[in-house]
This record gives sequence, C-alpha cells and structure tokens, in this order.
Amino acid sequence: MTQTDEKLLLRALNGETLPRPPVWLMRQAGRYLPEYRKLRAEAAGFLDLCFTPDLAVEITLQPIRRYGFDAAILFSDILVLPHALGQKVWFEEGIGPRLEAIETAEGLDRLSKDALHEALAPVYETVRRLRQSLPPQVALIGFAGAPWTVASYMLEGGSSKDFAAGKRWAYGAPQDFGRLIDLLVEATGDYLIAQIDAGAEAVQIFDSWAGVWPEDAFRRWCLEPAKTLTARLRRERPQVPVILFPRGAGLLYRDFAREAGAQALGLDTTVPLGWAQAELQPHVAVQGNLDPIMLVAGGQGLTAAVDRILRSLGQGPFVFNLGHGIVPQTPPENVSRLMEQIHAFSAEHAG
Ligand code: CP3
Repeated sequence: MTQTDEKLLLRALNGETLPRPPVWLMRQAGRYLPEYRKLRAEAAGFLDLCFTPDLAVEITLQPIRRYGFDAAILFSDILVLPHALGQKVWFEEGIGPRLEAIETAEGLDRLSKDALHEALAPVYETVRRLRQSLPPQVALIGFAGAPWTVASYMLEGGSSKDFAAGKRWAYGAPQDFGRLIDLLVEATGDYLIAQIDAGAEAVQIFDSWAGVWPEDAFRRWCLEPAKTLTARLRRERPQVPVILFPRGAGLLYRDFAREAGAQALGLDTTVPLGWAQAELQPHVAVQGNLDPIMLVAGGQGLTAAVDRILRSLGQGPFVFNLGHGIVPQTPPENVSRLMEQIHAFSAEHAG
C-alpha cells in the first residue's frame, strides 16, 4: 500500500500531519445510541454482549454506519481481563461494574493467567470478524485498561471516588501491589498481542484514573508499567501503533510523551491546547480532547470549541476525539454536527 492509500488513523498515529484529522470518539458505541439500547435490552447482561461475537460486532459497527468515523473500537470492556484472570465480575443495572474485591495477598495468589486466552477467545473472534466486515478506510482499534486502572477496580470491588483501597495497597503493601501490577502488565501484553494477531491495527491503553497519584507513585504505578507494556508491543508487534491515555496526568503528560515510547497520547479535556502543541506534539501524535459535556450542550459553544481544537492541534499529527468517553445523555444529532464540521474543515484546508 502506498502511504496515501493508508487509513487516515494510521497515518496520523505514525506522525503525519493531515489536512483533516481522522476522528473517532471514546465510547462511540453505547447508551446514547437508540440502536445500542435496543440490543442491550434484549441481551442477558452487559458481559454477554462483550462475549457474544455476533452482538459485539453489530454494536461496534452501529456508530460506524451512523456517522462514518475513521476508526472502530472493538466493543468490549476493560474488566473482561480480571474476569479472564479468575475474578468474579458482573454489571449491576443502574450501578455499574461490580467485582468480588481482592482483600488479602492470598486473594492475589488465586489469580491466574492460565485460562486467559480461552476466556477471551470470543473477543478475538469479534476482532477477526470486524476486520472482515469494516469498510476499507476504517481502522480497527483494540484496547485494554492500564494496569493501575484495572487494579483499582479489582481492589475496590467496583468504581470508587477516592481510590482508597488501591492506594492503601500501594502505600502499605507495595510489594503485593507490585505483584498485581506486574501480573497485569504481562496479562495485558498477552491480551493486546492476541487482539493484534486477530486483526487490531492500533491499540489504546486506558489509564482512566492515572490522575489520582502524587508524582513518585504516578511514575511507579502508571508511567513505568506503560513503558514496559509499550516496549513489549513495540518489540513484538512493531507495525502496530500504541495510544496511551493517562487521563488526568497534568504536567506529567510531558514525561509520558518523552519517556513512554508510544506513538500517540490521548489528552484529557483539561490539557491546554497551546501547551500540548509545544510540549507534546514534537514527540508524539496527540488525540483528544473535546469536553464530552460540550457535545451534550451543542450549539455555538460546541462549534467554537471544535474549531479551536482543529486549528491548534490540527497543525501537527492529530486524531480528533473527546477528552473522555461520550456520555449517555449526548443527543445523537450533535455527533452528526460534529462530523459535518470536521469534514468541512477538511474541505477548507485541502485547497
Ligand atoms: O469505546 C467503545 O465504544 C468501546 C467499548 C468500551 C466500553 N468500556 C463499553 C461499555 C470501552 C473502550 C470501555 C472502557 C472502560 N470501561 C473504561 C476506560 C475508559 C473510561 O471511560 O474511563 C472503564 C473505566 C470501564 C469500566 C466500566 N464499564 C464502567 C465504570 C462502566 C459503568 C459506567 C458506564 O460508563 O456505563 C462500564 C460499563 C460499560 N462499558 C458500558 C459500555 C457501553 C455501559 C453498559 C451498559 O450498557 O449498561
């Protein structure tokens, strides 16, 4: 394939500045879409959606059909990994994810990678089928949670406001906590490599809760694991770009850009555009960072915010996205407007 035939997402991730950036949205498949809610209501439970390739393929394709995004992200969840390591995981209506919290070092000993690929085989099958059914210009993104973010759910037993359980392990029993992080680094690497071998063309690692640590702990539990994982992917599957999303990293985004070794960084909504241009883009492609609530509010505020992002980050290697996942209250027509605006920007800049 000549470079100009290559998919827009892959060109941007590989460092090209394009007349119009590729666009996809974190959580682009999900509850803001009536066609998702319909399938969800018919399914036995959320994890059944993730582990039934027919359904997971269909849900992945729904936003591609509706909006023509430049990339599809595999429909699954970051918590299928603890499930595959032997922890009990379920989703409660109206609450969210629940896990049988690990409370002791012995609880850690019960986790095992032995049945990992067997448990995740339906996810790999979904990836294979997606690669066959996606339109040729649409890139397929695989993903996993970062070790710390996944560990936080494993230790808290679900979502958390203060991450006290995870932090108590990290501060009070760093060796045990380190053992869990090491296991997750390995298992996540195995999992992403299997997704790549099934057909994923880029991978994103979500560290949604990276922003809760002091600097030394951030380096140890977010930056170091990201480096190890990225180095393995670069070594074993060098053709596949890696996007890291250390949400809330603040000034430490700079260290991620220089040290982590990934091709791209996902920026949260708070990262200043000028700073990202000056400090991050010389080192990596960037992705982001529209406030998801701006997409709910719509109107002229949305148009202006999108324009600002396109005009600043668009001057370097860039993938348009949100600064965090799309929220269920998002009016689907606001996403259509966003797509029209990005495509119009492209027409304006092509000539
Ligand atoms: O982006 C996509 O379209 C792909 C699918 C995807 C889901 N979850 C589907 C999902 C992806 C990439 C994720 C990642 C994920 N899951 C993260 C990291 C990104 C982020 O948003 O911070 C985290 C922390 C999770 C864990 C998780 N899964 C939570 C906290 C919840 C409940 C809250 C919520 O947003 O619904 C889920 C459930 C979940 N994952 C849903 C979907 C579509 C909603 C389930 C439902 O229909 O009830």
